[in-house]
Amino acid sequence: MNDILRYDGKNVLVVGGTSGIGNGIAQSFLAAGATVHVWGTRPSAADYRADEGSRLEGLNFSRVDVSDAAAIHAFRPPFDRLDVLVLAQGAVEYRRAEFEDKGFRHVVDVNLNSLMSCASLFHPMLKAAQGSMIIVSSIGAYKAAIGTPAYAASKAGAMSLTRSLGAAWIGDGIRVNGIAPGLVATKMTKVTTDHPQRLQGTLARIPAGRIGTPQDMANVALFLASPLATYVVGHTIPVDGGLSA
Ligand SMILES: NC(=O)c1ccc[n+]([C@@H]2O[C@H](COP(=O)([O-])OP(=O)(O)OC[C@H]3O[C@@H](n4cnc5c(N)ncnc54)[C@H](OP(=O)(O)O)[C@@H]3O)[C@@H](O)[C@H]2O)c1
Repeated sequence: MNDILRYDGKNVLVVGGTSGIGNGIAQSFLAAGATVHVWGTRPSAADYRADEGSRLEGLNFSRVDVSDAAAIHAFRPPFDRLDVLVLAQGAVEYRRAEFEDKGFRHVVDVNLNSLMSCASLFHPMLKAAQGSMIIVSSIGAYKAAIGTPAYAASKAGAMSLTRSLGAAWIGDGIRVNGIAPGLVATKMTKVTTDHPQRLQGTLARIPAGRIGTPQDMANVALFLASPLATYVVGHTIPVDGGLSA
């Protein structure tokens, strides 16, 4: 790998790094030489299974429920330096649950409010390291989502927060940017990817002719956190095979 994309000696935390896209990002930073920490919801690393697409070998796991702001602020990091913070946590509720207060609030807490709690908790460490933060939103932010209004609204909020924190924190030497994935097969998207007709319908609209992989997202995360992207600030890059183009 080109040295400019190496992360030897760097500390990385991937919130939502136990599964899917976040797990792919965490494993890629590990392969690039970083010490990588991940947060998830289960009691221990042993509770994650490879057949669900989770690989926790080499990653330092902590359990933090990010729907609870107090739990985030109570976290005592097992590291005193942080170079890269990736916020890849995400939740969605189907069967019209997001049309009820409880479901709407839970999704907004996980997908939007927790971003600010995590960002503010780690702001001092990121400033000290002149580090980088990457927010994972979604191309679902760009248009109506008739079954999941909290998901779409929270992801639009995540993109807006990426712009604002990008502008607000570049003066502190912290670069904030984002990734907006298209469709990637994860436990969140089984409802589509395990359903041949729905999958075919989406595939037909993807110019690249295939769905994305966690590695596709990780490649852009490694770029955004690297010196190759020093003049990229406050932007969210769609990584969707052209789906939203
Ligand atoms: N897959 C796609 O097609 C797609 C498209 C656009 C955007 N995205 C976004 O990409 C990100 C990753 O999603 P994914 O598809 O990789 O789904 P996933 O496999 O379900 O991963 C979601 C991650 O968020 C964590 N998480 C969920 N609720 C949490 C909570 N209350 N506290 C702490 N952690 C929590 C999960 O922890 P556990 O492993 O413990 O459950 C997991 O690590 C999300 O922000 C999602 O909205 C995904």
